[in-house]
Amino acid sequence: MCGIVGYFGPQAPKNILLSGLKKLEYRGYDSAGVAIHNAGEFKVYRAAGKLAELEEKVSKVDFDGRIGIGHTRWATHGLPTERNAHPHKVNGVSLVQNGIIENYAELKKELIANGAQFTSETDTEVVTHLIAQALADSADLMAAIQKVIPKLRGAYAILVVSENEPDTILAFKAGPPLILGQGDGEVFLASDVQAFVEQTNRVVYLDDFEIVKVKGPTFTFYDQFGVEISKPVEVVDISVATSDKKGFKHYMLKEMFEQPRAVANALNPYIDVETKSIDVSRLGLDGAATEIEALKALQGAERIYIVACGTSYYAGLYAKYLIEQLVRIPVDVDVASEFRYRDPVLDKKSFALFISQSGETADTLAALRLAKDNGLTTMSLCNTKRSTIDRESNLHLYMNSGIEVGVASTKAFLSTLAVLNTLSIYLAESRNQINADERAQLVEALLSLPSLMEGVLSYDSFFNQAAETLKNYKGFLYLGRGHNFPIAMEGALKMKELAYLHAEGYPAGEMKHGPLALVDSQMVAVVICPKDKYYDKTISNLEEAKARGGVIFSIGTGQDEELEAMSEHYLSIPESHWMLSGLLSVIPVQLLAYHVADRLGHDVDQPRNLAKSVTVE
Ligand code: M6R
Repeated sequence: MCGIVGYFGPQAPKNILLSGLKKLEYRGYDSAGVAIHNAGEFKVYRAAGKLAELEEKVSKVDFDGRIGIGHTRWATHGLPTERNAHPHKVNGVSLVQNGIIENYAELKKELIANGAQFTSETDTEVVTHLIAQALADSADLMAAIQKVIPKLRGAYAILVVSENEPDTILAFKAGPPLILGQGDGEVFLASDVQAFVEQTNRVVYLDDFEIVKVKGPTFTFYDQFGVEISKPVEVVDISVATSDKKGFKHYMLKEMFEQPRAVANALNPYIDVETKSIDVSRLGLDGAATEIEALKALQGAERIYIVACGTSYYAGLYAKYLIEQLVRIPVDVDVASEFRYRDPVLDKKSFALFISQSGETADTLAALRLAKDNGLTTMSLCNTKRSTIDRESNLHLYMNSGIEVGVASTKAFLSTLAVLNTLSIYLAESRNQINADERAQLVEALLSLPSLMEGVLSYDSFFNQAAETLKNYKGFLYLGRGHNFPIAMEGALKMKELAYLHAEGYPAGEMKHGPLALVDSQMVAVVICPKDKYYDKTISNLEEAKARGGVIFSIGTGQDEELEAMSEHYLSIPESHWMLSGLLSVIPVQLLAYHVADRLGHDVDQPRNLAKSVTVE
């Protein structure tokens, strides 16, 4: 993960770099640093902890240079200490990296054998030494980098400056994203357009193994052989992430409360409200011949693979229930890190969907490339437009949920589920599994979702109060059946990542096959039990947990006296179409985790050890 930024221009580099790093803090926030030119050298400042520590450290420092690089870290090699923070500097070469150099240990051994002295435990310092060493031979930064790149194995995006060429930044990548922004007489480099989109919307996305040399306000691109290439400057339509919590205590709370609007925005591009139909031309197509072919491949697919990580994986699991039920085609759902390495048997008549909020998750991207290499037609469902996964897929769906700042995904998840519902209905109709009337009914149900969600959000204070006692339990078992099973998994993930409490999601029917042994008076069973076809079975599973002393927190439909009587805490979601109960159960599990974590005093927006965009495998 990590976020990197670079700048050359007339503005004070310190301010540009720090404001860029603030926007990139979602990528890692355990330490940060900058190298800025001043009085003939690149001065490095680093600090352990959040960016605020670095800001404090450089607040009174003035730099006379117009150029610098910066980094916000999510530790991979070495503790999150100041000496492991980037930039690393060796003999006038300063460098920041987002990524992992897999063969760093053997490279380090060779360097040490040749007399190099290391001051950190990072893989990044190894690259810095290699470039410094190569520079000793050629004195040309570009030539030095070209000599070093073939030695590196791994996934990385790197910015490097050298005191020999004080007006130059060299940037290169293999894997994680790197974008150049062209201003007027100034150049920006960053892991995400958000770092500089307030300054310019003219951008160039680097491709793997390309190098860009920023020299003063000009820049030149080279391919991996050092041959100059031309790349178009694109104008992107990306809104600036707001740093306003709008009166909420945390971004996450604000984002949960934004969910009705986010879901409406997610549905809007795909649904014609008048005719209650789903407009094919809006499924991310622009009418290009290849995209029309891709759409045909989707409609005719004999199997669908859905691949994602974390919360996006649970969204994929949810889609399996829905697509198989409505469309009657088999759906395989994989965690991307497994899919990419398990040598899957992929039939060309199948279709592959990749879900990623960030659009940059390394494993999901690798899985997408694997599917394409195997001749599959691909579709992505991303929140970040023009992200790598979005750019590399054949068809494109969008969550449209706006910037999500909280590291724990909330509104992007619900928006994803809404879009997956739309896709399922579209496929069901196009494959004659439902008729126009049935489609209109399903679409109508979907359109009622935002207002039903408002109702669930109004129970916020109920969760706040319940959290006061629930925060004291040793663990949580989340139980659900059917399309509520993935929601149980998501609920458990939220509790783990926010409250740091042990939580597991299970299909309710699995309890007696092992997890029941965990149940005692210190274990909370969070049971999602809407009045659907599984109701009686789930109630029996709940009885089993209760009989063993478990504390029951249940989420049911409307007035359910039976369920309420069995539960220490009962939360009612509104009566609704069967398709919506999973979506409506999401908000309760989010609010529960949020309030427990908040009452435990945790940093809800930036949970420990995590980052929002996972660009390393
Ligand atoms: O950006 P992506 O959707 O590809 O991210 C996948 C996971 O890293 C992400 O969902 C993660 O699990 C979140 N922390 C969940 O809240």
